[in-house]
Amino acid sequence: MDSPHPISEKLIAWYKINKRDLPWRNTKDPYKIWLSEIILQQTQVIQGLNYYIKFTETFPTVTDLADAPEDTVMKLWQGLGYYSRARNLYAAAKSIKENHKGKFPKTYGHIKNLKGVGDYTAAAVSSFAFGLPHAVLDGNVYRVLSRLFDLNTSINSGKGKKEFQQLADELLDKDQPALHNSAMMEFGALWCKPQNPKCETCVVQEHCMAYKNNTVYELPVKDKKTKIRNRYFNYIVFNYKEDVYIQKRSEKDIWQNLYQFYLIETQGPEKEEAVLNNGLLQELSSTFDVLKITMLKKHILSHQHLYATFYELNIKEPLKTKSLLKIKRSELVDYGLPQLIIKYLACA
Ligand code: ADE
Ligand code: SF4
Repeated sequence: MDSPHPISEKLIAWYKINKRDLPWRNTKDPYKIWLSEIILQQTQVIQGLNYYIKFTETFPTVTDLADAPEDTVMKLWQGLGYYSRARNLYAAAKSIKENHKGKFPKTYGHIKNLKGVGDYTAAAVSSFAFGLPHAVLDGNVYRVLSRLFDLNTSINSGKGKKEFQQLADELLDKDQPALHNSAMMEFGALWCKPQNPKCETCVVQEHCMAYKNNTVYELPVKDKKTKIRNRYFNYIVFNYKEDVYIQKRSEKDIWQNLYQFYLIETQGPEKEEAVLNNGLLQELSSTFDVLKITMLKKHILSHQHLYATFYELNIKEPLKTKSLLKIKRSELVDYGLPQLIIKYLACA
């Protein structure tokens, strides 16, 4: 039996004293652990906590999740962003029901095969729920390792991923992988933080090469992000008496499977007359009153800046089209909507 690495020993001892009490740490249920890891992928713990509670209360088992209508799942995810996570979560739940008889898979390989599960999530779930010896590598762990070993390979390059995974594997305490992985992540989140890491009182300071070489603030190294894309959304809000028309975003794009108003996307900012005289709009309805036009402030997503203008129109006749859904305006809250639409409704 190998003896554990001194860094791992010290971080596990640190973890036992300093860890936050979080609900997914008090369960061995692989479904709940998986759910928490998907939520926490691109979300802060504080925000993720409420969603974790909502999801586990609404869907206590993976079969409950698989049996729900997709719209219900998307609605519950509303506000968390990165909606592909919710679609993959749902698809994976269905596949567990159909291909694994509703029992959560127990091996690293089977877990990794689930939709939306990558190396990180497979390692997290298989170590936390089943005690399997797989080292996790998330943003926190990358930062901790880069500093401990003063390693300046870019963490989003293929070469970096390999090097860091190898380091993480060497450090892993294979007799208690769950504790080891939790300790690495929690230490990154609470102590070895991006800004103001607490080096002066750090339990592994004597092992830390970046501290020794005074490079803590230069690490980790990351390649430049992809360029931001500007998009121009002209939303047409068709009002007919108490009703309003919405459509589901079905394309493989942002907000897939969420609902929105009728959208005319343009290459740049569009003049009001040009939007109101747009052929697509005219084809849907040629007689309408313009109630008001509202331009929102720039809406920021991870790789896109959205410039949205909303045109509230009163129409005289119901629309003939089948591609839009007529609902009561008061029923809008029942649909999964992007934050941009919610922002508009709050100020409209
Ligand atoms: N971030 C990702 N996974 C986490 C976990 N299990 N606990 C706290 N933060 C996390
Ligand atoms: Fe992180 Fe500072 Fe500790 Fe090094 S000494 S592991 S940089 S907190």
